[in-house]
Amino acid sequence: MMVEDDGYIIEKVTKHLFGTWRVQRDWASPLNIVGGEGAYLIDSRGRRYLDFSSQLVCVNLGYGNKRIIEAIKEQLDSLAYLGPGYATRIRAEAAEALASILPERLSKFVFSSSGSEANEDAIKIARAYKYPSFKILARYWSYHGNTAGAISLTGDPRRSSVESHTSMDWVVRIPDPYCYRCPFGYEDCNECGLACLEYTEYILANEGHVAAIFLETITGTNGVIVPPDDFYPRLRRLADEYDVLLVFDEVMTGWGRTGKWFAFEHWGVEPDILTTAKGATSSYVPIGITAVDRDVASYFDDKFLPIGHTFAYHPLAMAAMKAAIQEYREGGYIDNAAKVGEYLGKRLRELMDRHPCIGDVRGIGLFWGVELVRDRKTKEPFNTREDKVMGRPLMTQKIARKMLEYGVILPMAWISNFVIAPPLVVTEDDIDLGVEALDKALAIADEEVRS
Ligand SMILES: Cc1ncc(COP(=O)(O)O)c(C=O)c1O
Repeated sequence: MMVEDDGYIIEKVTKHLFGTWRVQRDWASPLNIVGGEGAYLIDSRGRRYLDFSSQLVCVNLGYGNKRIIEAIKEQLDSLAYLGPGYATRIRAEAAEALASILPERLSKFVFSSSGSEANEDAIKIARAYKYPSFKILARYWSYHGNTAGAISLTGDPRRSSVESHTSMDWVVRIPDPYCYRCPFGYEDCNECGLACLEYTEYILANEGHVAAIFLETITGTNGVIVPPDDFYPRLRRLADEYDVLLVFDEVMTGWGRTGKWFAFEHWGVEPDILTTAKGATSSYVPIGITAVDRDVASYFDDKFLPIGHTFAYHPLAMAAMKAAIQEYREGGYIDNAAKVGEYLGKRLRELMDRHPCIGDVRGIGLFWGVELVRDRKTKEPFNTREDKVMGRPLMTQKIARKMLEYGVILPMAWISNFVIAPPLVVTEDDIDLGVEALDKALAIADEEVRS
């Protein structure tokens, strides 16, 4: 392989392109990546790195998947673009394939180009359907996207820097089922009687004009927060009782990530609207999907649908998604996520014995959070939300940088936690490589633990 001119490439990239969600000076020397294969990326010097978070938890089927690549090429040769108002074979086949993996009642779709847009479309549909109700309940430990509506629903600090640009009077915060840091101070999540849901019910009873509850089925970037088992059945009952829509954002948790097609399947509940993106094409082509319950959808049979995108139902995205669905179905990747995911969880939990800097390990399938603390007893984190926004050095990023030396990329190093979510093609040997790199790099944090 030719060694590329790293200097030229990195200089032009960082000169002309903004680094996302960061103070710009921190994006000084990104890796120059030239290719990828399976769960591995390859840099300009031919060095291979295990991608321990599938980039932004999106390259679910790994790099170089032939079936998806060929499907995109074939579609490019026949019809590269078509406005959303026309029928064409790939649209019919891809829509049918999507319907076949979703609950029967989620049978009408809007397609867009990102998870943020999928959420914008869900907000509009919920509020139009529930008019004059317009408020949406959302959580603090959440991320729903970068556009005006989606960032307003977002509870994490990415919201705070643009709060004054957006109108948030329609967002009402509800508490998170974040048992490690229970908002009600319970130590044991079996004892609280789901106080977070009791308080949600109090809000529903008193707030008025609530159109929907909008949640990441499992909170992703903000720490892989898996709710207790009875959370979703009870939440579904609450939504029905108060006649509000339940929207699940599965932009990150969909597409086999948790060992099922979609995370809500773990709890036997269905949303009224499902949003998803990323893994739908394994991120080979941008995509966003808003899947709508048929009764909600039929409201628009004789009412104006206030939604449209130039790239809605883009032929390349439809071709990539149809091929990805076949691949997920036939390749055994979702079962692999469940099986190898269990091994990953076991290996990560073992790290807790050796590293006092780990406060909590939690997850499901190939979707795991490792939360770091300076002090296990007080759960004091190394960094705060403010540190992130102010561009102060983060412990998680120091560790991720160290892991590069051991051949592992971990881009999902958020404020106080890692999201460990490798492509669903990984083997136990790959997991060993990733966990051993983390094991070595965690020494940096251990040194700063208060004993
Ligand atoms: C849960 C969740 N929702 C929405 C989004 C936004 O998706 P996109 O970046 O494709 O706009 C993300 C992105 O990470 C996400 O994790």
